[in-house]
Amino acid sequence: MLRYLPVRRIHARQILDSRGNPTVEVEVTVGEGVVGVNGYTARAMVPSGASTGKFEAVELRDGDKEKYLGLGVERAVANVNTKLSEAVLGENALNQSLIDHLLIQADGTDNKGSVGANATLGVSMAVARAAAMALRIPLYQYLGGCRTLKLPVPMMNILNGGKHADNTVDLQEFMIVPAGADNFPDAVRICAEVYQHLKIILKENNLSTAVGDEGGFAPDVKDTRDVLELMARAVQKAGYIPGSDIYFAVDAAASELYDEARGVYYFPGESRMKGEEVYRDSGEMIDYFESIIEDYPVISIEDGLEEDDWEGWKLMTDRLGKRVQLVGDDLFVTNIKRLSCGIRLGAANAILTKVNQIGTLSEAIDAVTMAQHAGYKAVISHRSGETEDPFIADLAVALNAGQIKTGAPCRSDRNAKYNQLLRIHENLGELAVYENPFTGFL
Ligand code: PGA
Ligand code: ZN
Repeated sequence: MLRYLPVRRIHARQILDSRGNPTVEVEVTVGEGVVGVNGYTARAMVPSGASTGKFEAVELRDGDKEKYLGLGVERAVANVNTKLSEAVLGENALNQSLIDHLLIQADGTDNKGSVGANATLGVSMAVARAAAMALRIPLYQYLGGCRTLKLPVPMMNILNGGKHADNTVDLQEFMIVPAGADNFPDAVRICAEVYQHLKIILKENNLSTAVGDEGGFAPDVKDTRDVLELMARAVQKAGYIPGSDIYFAVDAAASELYDEARGVYYFPGESRMKGEEVYRDSGEMIDYFESIIEDYPVISIEDGLEEDDWEGWKLMTDRLGKRVQLVGDDLFVTNIKRLSCGIRLGAANAILTKVNQIGTLSEAIDAVTMAQHAGYKAVISHRSGETEDPFIADLAVALNAGQIKTGAPCRSDRNAKYNQLLRIHENLGELAVYENPFTGFL
């Protein structure tokens, strides 16, 4: 029989995220004794996106323009402190599936539109952390069990564009992926070294070294090829070999570039830098990625096409899916309904997993499990609006995901995750596994 560890207290408050916008923090106390005497209290903080997919679960915002420009989350906080507390108090914290089921039920909609996914997720994560605490085991082990040995390969976003910066770079994220490293600490070191060399190179070229939302630099660069060129130089300057020690990855966040009325993708930065309007249709986007793959060691492309273009995604996967990882972020939104559709069609070959896209831990874990069973890869991801909560670091290890995307090796909201993974690596000792997830690609 399941041990009984009752949820004794739930309390939410409004805090600030890395962009200075409000978000939800939840504290949960579990245990059979008296609250505050022999209970275990844990806390979790909810992240928030900027380039959000239109099929994501609802992030409840107050809309009161007098406060935080309408971005307050006092309603979501109140929902935790009333409806969600009523649903979960007294229930067994060791039964995460039941807890999450009750949260979903208390909301009662398809998309958490009633209480807010920011409310449900805060409770879901804090319950898991409190349960792990009460059992006196690390969170990754609680979530993953006894076969959790794999440290994820980091995808570090060292150059920011799109909605995450005010520069001319149209694709949202340019990442370095140290898949050839020997272990996780080496991977972090290599990325940090490349990051610092990129900073020196940008300075030498009179380009800005100010950073975007995810800690990567945000200079005005002419186009994607110029960005990849700068990155290749930084990798070489740091003493590494592009394509062997380090791969590149991009997140095009193409839904943000899509001009629905005209049915094409518009590149505003490239247009500005070139003095002519640059548009690409779905087929030209695939050509564009193909030509980049030819010339640079790009191993992973996320959201190369927009979130409704299933046909285009299938075509892109047919054309490029054997050579590179094609990650569905806005396409799948960590939702098993959309993922199963993609698997059936053969669209993409990997899923990006963001816990707040769906609103409970169990549903996010279901998505990763479904992906893994279908031979899709899974990348655990932060949001552009983050907090100091390193929850996703433990989650990545727990799910043997093999990849994590959590920004540049800069800004404490990003490094909180890498630093937690360094601790987990140390904790696992000799048993820690670090391996190249891309060996299957041609
Ligand atoms: P977001 O960006 O958190 O702003 O959605 C991250 C991503 O698109 O992967
Ligand atoms: Zn994305």
